[in-house]
Amino acid sequence: MKVSILGGTGDLGKGLALRLAESSDVIIGSRDPEKAKSIADQYISEFRASRGRNPNIVGMQNSEAVSRGEYIIISIPFEVLPQFLDGLVVDASRTVIVPVVPMKKTKEGFSYVPYQVNGQQLSAAELVRSRIGSQSVVSGFHTVPAMRLADLTQGLDYDVMVAADEKATYEKAAELIRSISGLKPIYAGKLYTSRYLEPLTPLLLNVAINNKLHAPSLKIV
Ligand SMILES: NC(=O)c1ccc[n+]([C@@H]2O[C@H](COP(=O)([O-])OP(=O)(O)OC[C@H]3O[C@@H](n4cnc5c(N)ncnc54)[C@H](OP(=O)(O)O)[C@@H]3O)[C@@H](O)[C@H]2O)c1
Repeated sequence: MKVSILGGTGDLGKGLALRLAESSDVIIGSRDPEKAKSIADQYISEFRASRGRNPNIVGMQNSEAVSRGEYIIISIPFEVLPQFLDGLVVDASRTVIVPVVPMKKTKEGFSYVPYQVNGQQLSAAELVRSRIGSQSVVSGFHTVPAMRLADLTQGLDYDVMVAADEKATYEKAAELIRSISGLKPIYAGKLYTSRYLEPLTPLLLNVAINNKLHAPSLKIV
Protein backbone atom coordinates (compact mmCIF):
# COMPACT_ATOMS: atom_id res chain seq x y z
CA MET A 1 0.00 0.00 0.00
CA LYS A 2 1.06 3.60 -0.59
CA VAL A 3 0.11 6.19 2.03
CA SER A 4 0.53 9.96 1.94
CA ILE A 5 0.37 11.71 5.30
CA LEU A 6 -0.32 15.43 4.87
CA GLY A 7 1.13 17.20 7.90
CA GLY A 8 3.12 14.00 8.38
CA THR A 9 5.87 15.94 10.16
CA GLY A 10 3.68 16.30 13.28
CA ASP A 11 3.04 14.04 16.24
CA LEU A 12 0.34 11.81 14.78
CA GLY A 13 2.09 11.79 11.41
CA LYS A 14 5.24 10.45 13.01
CA GLY A 15 3.43 7.67 14.85
CA LEU A 16 1.43 6.61 11.81
CA ALA A 17 4.47 6.80 9.52
CA LEU A 18 6.59 4.57 11.76
CA ARG A 19 3.85 1.97 12.16
CA LEU A 20 2.64 2.00 8.56
CA ALA A 21 6.21 1.74 7.26
CA GLU A 22 6.28 -1.89 8.45
CA SER A 23 4.33 -2.88 5.35
CA SER A 24 3.54 0.25 3.29
CA ASP A 25 5.32 2.93 1.31
CA VAL A 26 4.94 6.17 3.27
CA ILE A 27 5.04 9.70 1.87
CA ILE A 28 5.50 12.49 4.40
CA GLY A 29 3.83 15.74 3.36
CA SER A 30 4.67 19.18 4.69
CA ARG A 31 4.27 22.81 3.67
CA ASP A 32 8.07 22.84 3.36
CA PRO A 33 9.62 20.17 1.11
CA GLU A 34 13.04 20.44 2.81
CA LYS A 35 11.46 19.88 6.21
CA ALA A 36 9.53 16.90 4.81
CA LYS A 37 12.76 15.32 3.50
CA SER A 38 14.66 15.90 6.70
CA ILE A 39 11.84 14.53 8.89
CA ALA A 40 11.46 11.53 6.57
CA ASP A 41 15.18 10.82 7.09
CA GLN A 42 14.68 11.03 10.86
CA TYR A 43 11.82 8.52 10.67
CA ILE A 44 13.96 6.19 8.52
CA SER A 45 16.74 6.31 11.17
CA GLU A 46 14.33 5.61 14.03
CA PHE A 47 12.70 2.75 12.16
CA ARG A 48 16.06 1.23 11.19
CA ALA A 49 17.34 1.48 14.78
CA SER A 50 14.30 -0.43 15.99
CA ARG A 51 13.67 -2.90 13.16
CA GLY A 52 17.13 -3.36 11.65
CA ARG A 53 16.03 -2.61 8.09
CA ASN A 54 15.30 0.43 5.95
CA PRO A 55 11.65 1.42 5.50
CA ASN A 56 10.33 3.12 2.38
CA ILE A 57 9.64 6.66 3.62
CA VAL A 58 10.05 9.80 1.51
CA GLY A 59 9.23 13.47 2.15
CA MET A 60 7.80 16.16 -0.12
CA GLN A 61 5.45 19.13 -0.20
CA ASN A 62 1.81 18.38 0.69
CA SER A 63 0.68 19.46 -2.78
CA GLU A 64 2.87 16.75 -4.34
CA ALA A 65 2.27 14.12 -1.66
CA VAL A 66 -1.48 14.30 -2.23
CA SER A 67 -1.09 12.93 -5.76
CA ARG A 68 1.16 10.02 -4.73
CA GLY A 69 -0.65 7.84 -2.20
CA GLU A 70 -3.65 5.61 -2.72
CA TYR A 71 -4.45 6.64 0.88
CA ILE A 72 -4.33 10.28 1.97
CA ILE A 73 -4.27 10.92 5.72
CA ILE A 74 -5.04 14.54 6.62
CA SER A 75 -3.02 15.00 9.81
CA ILE A 76 -3.41 18.74 10.25
CA PRO A 77 -4.40 20.78 13.36
CA PHE A 78 -8.15 21.39 13.41
CA GLU A 79 -7.76 25.18 13.60
CA VAL A 80 -6.10 25.35 10.19
CA LEU A 81 -8.12 22.62 8.46
CA PRO A 82 -10.63 24.99 6.74
CA GLN A 83 -7.83 27.08 5.16
CA PHE A 84 -5.80 23.95 4.39
CA LEU A 85 -8.73 22.52 2.42
CA ASP A 86 -8.93 25.70 0.31
CA GLY A 87 -5.99 24.68 -1.81
CA LEU A 88 -6.37 20.91 -1.62
CA VAL A 89 -7.20 18.95 -4.76
CA VAL A 90 -7.69 15.22 -4.18
CA ASP A 91 -8.31 12.72 -6.94
CA ALA A 92 -11.58 10.83 -6.39
CA SER A 93 -9.75 7.48 -6.61
CA ARG A 94 -7.94 8.12 -3.29
CA THR A 95 -9.19 7.03 0.09
CA VAL A 96 -9.02 10.08 2.36
CA ILE A 97 -8.68 9.40 6.09
CA VAL A 98 -9.47 12.20 8.54
CA PRO A 99 -8.21 11.85 12.13
CA VAL A 100 -8.81 15.55 12.90
CA VAL A 101 -10.52 16.42 16.20
CA PRO A 102 -11.84 19.97 16.66
CA MET A 103 -11.65 20.64 20.39
CA LYS A 104 -10.68 23.30 22.90
CA LYS A 105 -9.36 23.36 26.43
CA THR A 106 -11.15 25.35 29.09
CA LYS A 107 -10.86 25.55 32.88
CA GLU A 108 -13.26 22.59 33.08
CA GLY A 109 -11.26 20.44 30.70
CA PHE A 110 -11.42 19.55 27.00
CA SER A 111 -14.57 19.95 24.95
CA TYR A 112 -15.59 19.21 21.36
CA VAL A 113 -16.13 22.23 19.09
CA PRO A 114 -17.59 21.14 15.74
CA TYR A 115 -17.22 23.45 12.73
CA GLN A 116 -20.05 25.89 12.04
CA VAL A 117 -20.85 26.06 8.34
CA ASN A 118 -23.90 28.03 7.14
CA GLY A 119 -25.57 27.59 10.51
CA GLN A 120 -24.89 23.84 10.49
CA GLN A 121 -22.55 21.92 12.79
CA LEU A 122 -20.12 19.65 10.95
CA SER A 123 -17.56 17.14 12.12
CA ALA A 124 -14.07 17.47 10.67
CA ALA A 125 -14.67 14.50 8.36
CA GLU A 126 -17.91 16.00 7.06
CA LEU A 127 -16.14 19.32 6.50
CA VAL A 128 -13.48 17.51 4.43
CA ARG A 129 -16.13 15.68 2.38
CA SER A 130 -18.04 18.91 1.73
CA ARG A 131 -14.89 20.70 0.60
CA ILE A 132 -13.09 18.11 -1.52
CA GLY A 133 -16.27 16.64 -2.99
CA SER A 134 -15.16 13.02 -2.66
CA GLN A 135 -17.32 10.20 -1.33
CA SER A 136 -14.21 8.24 -0.34
CA VAL A 137 -13.73 10.13 2.93
CA VAL A 138 -13.22 8.11 6.08
CA SER A 139 -13.12 9.28 9.67
CA GLY A 140 -10.73 7.41 11.96
CA PHE A 141 -7.66 7.20 14.24
CA HIS A 142 -9.08 9.80 16.69
CA THR A 143 -8.49 7.72 19.80
CA VAL A 144 -5.05 6.32 18.98
CA PRO A 145 -2.43 8.27 20.98
CA ALA A 146 0.42 9.55 18.79
CA MET A 147 3.03 8.95 21.48
CA ARG A 148 2.14 5.25 21.72
CA LEU A 149 2.27 4.85 17.96
CA ALA A 150 5.66 6.54 17.79
CA ASP A 151 7.18 4.28 20.44
CA LEU A 152 8.14 1.21 18.43
CA THR A 153 9.22 -0.63 21.57
CA GLN A 154 5.57 -0.87 22.61
CA GLY A 155 2.92 -3.20 21.26
CA LEU A 156 -0.54 -1.83 20.51
CA ASP A 157 -3.93 -3.29 21.41
CA TYR A 158 -6.59 -0.78 20.41
CA ASP A 159 -9.81 -0.63 18.46
CA VAL A 160 -10.14 2.08 15.83
CA MET A 161 -13.70 3.12 15.16
CA VAL A 162 -14.22 4.25 11.62
CA ALA A 163 -17.04 6.12 9.89
CA ALA A 164 -17.56 6.07 6.12
CA ASP A 165 -20.57 6.48 3.86
CA GLU A 166 -19.89 3.38 1.78
CA LYS A 167 -19.01 0.01 3.29
CA ALA A 168 -16.47 -0.49 0.48
CA THR A 169 -14.72 2.73 1.52
CA TYR A 170 -14.65 1.48 5.10
CA GLU A 171 -13.19 -1.87 3.96
CA LYS A 172 -10.42 -0.07 2.09
CA ALA A 173 -9.51 1.96 5.20
CA ALA A 174 -9.88 -1.12 7.40
CA GLU A 175 -7.24 -2.90 5.30
CA LEU A 176 -4.78 -0.12 6.08
CA ILE A 177 -5.66 -0.04 9.78
CA ARG A 178 -5.26 -3.85 10.04
CA SER A 179 -1.80 -3.52 8.53
CA ILE A 180 -0.72 -1.88 11.81
CA SER A 181 -0.16 -4.71 14.25
CA GLY A 182 -2.43 -4.32 17.29
CA LEU A 183 -5.03 -2.04 15.70
CA LYS A 184 -8.49 -3.43 14.94
CA PRO A 185 -10.91 -1.43 12.78
CA ILE A 186 -14.59 -1.32 13.74
CA TYR A 187 -17.27 0.11 11.47
CA ALA A 188 -19.15 2.82 13.38
CA GLY A 189 -21.53 3.87 10.59
CA LYS A 190 -21.91 6.48 7.89
CA LEU A 191 -19.73 9.57 7.85
CA TYR A 192 -22.13 11.64 9.98
CA THR A 193 -21.25 9.20 12.82
CA SER A 194 -17.97 11.09 13.00
CA ARG A 195 -19.92 13.64 15.07
CA TYR A 196 -19.87 11.00 17.81
CA LEU A 197 -16.38 9.60 17.14
CA GLU A 198 -14.47 12.89 17.20
CA PRO A 199 -15.72 13.87 20.71
CA LEU A 200 -14.22 10.64 22.08
CA THR A 201 -10.81 12.33 22.04
CA PRO A 202 -11.68 15.21 24.42
CA LEU A 203 -13.51 12.63 26.54
CA LEU A 204 -10.37 10.47 26.77
CA LEU A 205 -8.22 13.52 27.56
CA ASN A 206 -10.57 14.45 30.41
CA VAL A 207 -10.46 10.87 31.67
CA ALA A 208 -6.65 10.99 31.50
CA ILE A 209 -6.45 14.23 33.50
CA ASN A 210 -9.02 13.24 36.11
CA ASN A 211 -7.56 9.78 36.68
CA LYS A 212 -3.88 10.51 36.08
CA LEU A 213 -3.77 8.10 33.13
CA HIS A 214 -1.10 8.26 30.46
CA ALA A 215 -2.36 8.27 26.84
CA PRO A 216 -5.49 6.13 27.31
CA SER A 217 -7.22 4.67 24.25
CA LEU A 218 -10.27 2.51 23.52
CA LYS A 219 -11.15 -1.13 23.06
CA ILE A 220 -14.72 -2.36 22.62
CA VAL A 221 -15.54 -5.52 24.59
N1 LIG B 1 -1.55 13.84 18.48
C1 LIG B 1 -2.42 12.84 18.70
O1 LIG B 1 -2.23 11.99 19.60
C2 LIG B 1 -3.66 12.72 17.84
C3 LIG B 1 -4.44 11.56 17.95
C4 LIG B 1 -5.57 11.45 17.15
C5 LIG B 1 -5.92 12.48 16.29
N2 LIG B 1 -5.14 13.61 16.21
C6 LIG B 1 -5.51 14.67 15.25
O2 LIG B 1 -4.57 14.59 14.19
C7 LIG B 1 -4.26 15.89 13.68
C8 LIG B 1 -2.76 16.10 13.74
O3 LIG B 1 -2.37 16.07 15.10
P1 LIG B 1 -0.84 16.34 15.51
O4 LIG B 1 -0.79 16.22 16.97
O5 LIG B 1 0.06 15.53 14.67
O6 LIG B 1 -0.70 17.87 15.08
P2 LIG B 1 0.60 18.80 15.01
O7 LIG B 1 1.80 17.98 15.34
O8 LIG B 1 0.32 20.01 15.85
O9 LIG B 1 0.62 19.29 13.49
C9 LIG B 1 0.73 18.42 12.38
C10 LIG B 1 1.34 19.15 11.21
O10 LIG B 1 0.43 20.13 10.71
C11 LIG B 1 1.18 21.03 9.91
N3 LIG B 1 0.65 22.38 10.05
C12 LIG B 1 0.68 23.17 11.15
N4 LIG B 1 0.11 24.37 10.89
C13 LIG B 1 -0.28 24.34 9.59
C14 LIG B 1 -0.90 25.27 8.73
N5 LIG B 1 -1.24 26.50 9.14
N6 LIG B 1 -1.16 24.88 7.45
C15 LIG B 1 -0.81 23.64 7.00
N7 LIG B 1 -0.19 22.72 7.78
C16 LIG B 1 0.06 23.06 9.06
C17 LIG B 1 2.63 20.96 10.39
O11 LIG B 1 3.42 20.43 9.32
P3 LIG B 1 4.46 21.32 8.47
O12 LIG B 1 4.95 22.44 9.35
O13 LIG B 1 5.54 20.36 8.16
O14 LIG B 1 3.70 21.78 7.27
C18 LIG B 1 2.58 19.97 11.53
O15 LIG B 1 3.72 19.16 11.64
C19 LIG B 1 -5.03 16.89 14.56
O16 LIG B 1 -6.16 17.33 13.87
C20 LIG B 1 -5.42 16.09 15.79
O17 LIG B 1 -6.69 16.50 16.30
C21 LIG B 1 -4.00 13.74 16.95
